[in-house]
Amino acid sequence: MALQLEFGTVLVSATHNPGKASEIAALLDGRFEVLTAGALGLPEPDEVEQTFVGNAVLKARAAADASGRIAIADDSGLAVAALGGAPGVLSARWAETPEGARDFAFAMDKVEQAIARTGSADRSARFHSALAVAWPQGAVVAVEGTVDGTLVFPGRGTRGFGYDPIFLPQGETETFGEMDPARKHAISHRAVAFAKLRAALF
Ligand code: IMP
Repeated sequence: MALQLEFGTVLVSATHNPGKASEIAALLDGRFEVLTAGALGLPEPDEVEQTFVGNAVLKARAAADASGRIAIADDSGLAVAALGGAPGVLSARWAETPEGARDFAFAMDKVEQAIARTGSADRSARFHSALAVAWPQGAVVAVEGTVDGTLVFPGRGTRGFGYDPIFLPQGETETFGEMDPARKHAISHRAVAFAKLRAALF
């Protein structure tokens, strides 16, 4: 079928972060050679969509059309029920301090304060990971993985990144910030999304 990916295909990762490109290559079982949009000098489109899938598709489409190669992009973040799904697609932006630094302790405080202002006792939250693969001037395949959990304040643990310390996945006793990284990688939103992508394309 046309939308299968052959072993050894060169994929463009629509990221300017070489670390993320190698993480994507590893999550795809090393089946593909992954080049970054940054290394190819492709422009970075503005993430203007309101959904994770929308932004992943926008980034994959832009990288595929500009490079003439099959491209893969991701978009992820934390949706908090009491905040109507915020920070959501703005998860990275909530970490920007007034001084222009990126600080997730600052972002997690902001989430705690925003929930407190609502007066809600609901601490449920969901991590989302959307992945999109786009063919140049052609089709796009998009999938989304999620993991449900509860927010804990103060955060716990120094592992992981981003909002990991405040996220206690459902059925677990450790936050993503405390958990063995292998356990996180087995149950995370990103793991679910990559499993769906593998099932769709390999
Ligand atoms: P992106 O690079 O636009 O996808 O930004 C994703 C945002 O969501 C970043 O700010 C991350 O810190 C946050 N995020 C996504 N996945 C995770 C995760 O697994 N743990 C903690 N934070 C995450």
